[in-house]
Amino acid sequence: MTPTPADIDTATDADLPGILELQAAHQIARGGMLSAEFPRLKIEQMMRTLPLVVARREGRVVGFLMAAERDMVAAPPVLRAMFAAYAGAPDAYVYGPICVDAAERGQGLAAAMFSKLRALQPGGEGVLFIRRDNEASLRAHRRMGMREVAGFELDGIGFAVFSYVG
Ligand SMILES: CC(C)(COP(=O)(O)OP(=O)(O)OC[C@H]1O[C@@H](n2cnc3c(N)ncnc32)[C@H](O)[C@@H]1OP(=O)(O)O)[C@@H](O)C(=O)NCCC(=O)NCCS
Repeated sequence: MTPTPADIDTATDADLPGILELQAAHQIARGGMLSAEFPRLKIEQMMRTLPLVVARREGRVVGFLMAAERDMVAAPPVLRAMFAAYAGAPDAYVYGPICVDAAERGQGLAAAMFSKLRALQPGGEGVLFIRRDNEASLRAHRRMGMREVAGFELDGIGFAVFSYVG
């Protein structure tokens, strides 16, 4: 039987618990690949200014893609290092973090969420970083047509900087 396709949608407040759960489960400290963990209040601010996209299966959040204005998230050292390596357009926004539930990977959900973000936010430049040891993410984002524009190192970890125009 073909599984029901996931719904790709703009997040509502009802999705926040699921987003927070997925975000917490995939932190580096817990063996995941996410370098940042935003508190609920910050995510609420972000989703009021730029689209927050989710993938849901039977109502459960199985993926999210955040986006934020650079001034809103400029404090973490990794984002400061990213913009030092690549300034981007003055109004460029930050793409990410993106996360797909482990059981849902390899089916193009990341690309589907990116298409939705682009449709909702056409024209502007998005900038993101990816750890060089995150092969799955590098593959997914290269396949989406994003361009590697710079690299940097922080605390001995190598990162690639990618950019795209929506
Ligand atoms: C990176 C991530 C968002 C990609 O999402 P996705 O929807 O699985 O993306 P894709 O379907 O395009 O698959 C991308 C790559 O994942 C790998 N992959 C495929 N199936 C997989 C699975 N079941 N489990 C893990 N990785 C898998 C493959 O390398 C695939 O590339 P390929 O098809 O060229 O072989 C997802 O792996 C994820 O959430 N990872 C943990 C958090 C993270 O790293 N976020 C990004 C930080 S920059």
